[in-house]
Amino acid sequence: MAREIPTASRGENLRFLLAYTAATLLRGPYAHGPRGASLAARLDATTHALRAAQEIRRRHGGLIWMPRWTPGTTGRTLLVLAPEDVEAVLSGPAELYSPDSPDKHGMAVFQPDGLSLSRGRMRRDRRDFAEYVLDSHAPRHRLCDRITRIVRTEMTFPGQITHAEAGLAFRRIARRILFGDPARDDEMTTDILRALRSDANWDVNWRAVRRLRGRRDAKLLELFTRRVSGYVRTATAGSLMSQFADAPICADPSGQVAQWLMAFESTTTAVLQCLALLSTHPHQRAEAVRNEDYLRACFMEAVRLWDPVPSITRATTGDADLRGAHLPEDTSLLIPVGLLQRDDERLDYADRFAPEIWLNGTAERDWTISPFSRGEAGCPGRDLATLVAMTALSTLLRGHRYALAAPEISASRPLPRTIDTFAIKLVALPGPVDTRAQTDQEVSQSAAGS
Ligand code: HEM
Repeated sequence: MAREIPTASRGENLRFLLAYTAATLLRGPYAHGPRGASLAARLDATTHALRAAQEIRRRHGGLIWMPRWTPGTTGRTLLVLAPEDVEAVLSGPAELYSPDSPDKHGMAVFQPDGLSLSRGRMRRDRRDFAEYVLDSHAPRHRLCDRITRIVRTEMTFPGQITHAEAGLAFRRIARRILFGDPARDDEMTTDILRALRSDANWDVNWRAVRRLRGRRDAKLLELFTRRVSGYVRTATAGSLMSQFADAPICADPSGQVAQWLMAFESTTTAVLQCLALLSTHPHQRAEAVRNEDYLRACFMEAVRLWDPVPSITRATTGDADLRGAHLPEDTSLLIPVGLLQRDDERLDYADRFAPEIWLNGTAERDWTISPFSRGEAGCPGRDLATLVAMTALSTLLRGHRYALAAPEISASRPLPRTIDTFAIKLVALPGPVDTRAQTDQEVSQSAAGS
């Protein structure tokens, strides 16, 4: 007999919808902004959404129909909270559980030809192309030496690191890696994409407003595509563009670039979060400076704790059997990994900095711990993002010890569930750099004095 999927009540649906989409909308789904991030942190939007999800799971189990989802998407969405169901969906064929879900359609504003919006043959071609250029299956990207050199030269922050400064440095890094050194100061290309992404934010709920901006967006997209195509043609040696010539055929190579350029912002966020954690956790910092595997685990913890891509969405392209439950074609699925990774009813490490889970198999075994997603549609840029982040972190940690001036984080209290990454400010401490663990008192004194 088929597994029945219960339906959440209207009240439960409304509570979860308000809490979850409020967090998403405040952050800005396609372009995050400081005002929304600050408000989301003050309201602690993640905790409200987590509590709503936990209550639904307590009453109905781990797979639930949410009868009403946001306007602009489908009428109902399947909320996936059980680890076994998360695993079944992510490890299932991307052909059937397609990442091209209605929730992502706002992306068409800035990348109508993007991998995430494709299906069938087109998707396979674009995915093969992305995997080749991003060198997804190699232990080290084939351009690793150049990439690490770029990152090292850009990691120069005299005195302090703020989100604004780090953001600019990572924009330069992204352009140099993608397009080559001549693009280092081409802020215009990044700004055009940013403007398109901000407009895409409106697509989530305010289609009428979006329509008003349609003409402007068409022009911006044309301009962005022209600039990217110029870089593709030039194919500066050592850039990702230089890899296009040998990559598997893809109908629109330039159309893949917007998502890559955008994704470097998540890498910036993750690096800042990791530095904030290491600056407030002296024992973990001391180990991270000595041991590269441990530093990598710290980076993964930073993305688990405050996931820059907190929702994984799918749409079924035909009838599907999800562990005995029948899903009709066009079922929208939501896996709220950002909540599941902080699920304090399941995980005893939910609210603490626990790099060891990435070293002892705990994270690997549990599919709800998937900040880069997994399976056929998992992030193809994971290793590149990790390479960039690891190089940035080890360069900065080798040069300085930092104290976190804002926001407030402490090793002796549960970590906040919502963080305002834009507010992160790290102050370099005077004195020689060493690998000794700072005492908690030293850290808080330096932060208070800055
Ligand atoms: C900390 C940094 C990053 C995080 C946390 C992250 C996370 C994710 C997640 C969760 C997905 C969704 C996968 C799914 O639907 O199952 C994704 C997709 C994707 N990411 Fe990343 N990502 C990061 C950096 C990057 C970078 C640097 C690139 C490229 C340069 C990149 C390229 C992509 C692409 C092309 C997709 C679409 C995959 C598909 O639809 O098949 N990401 N990423």
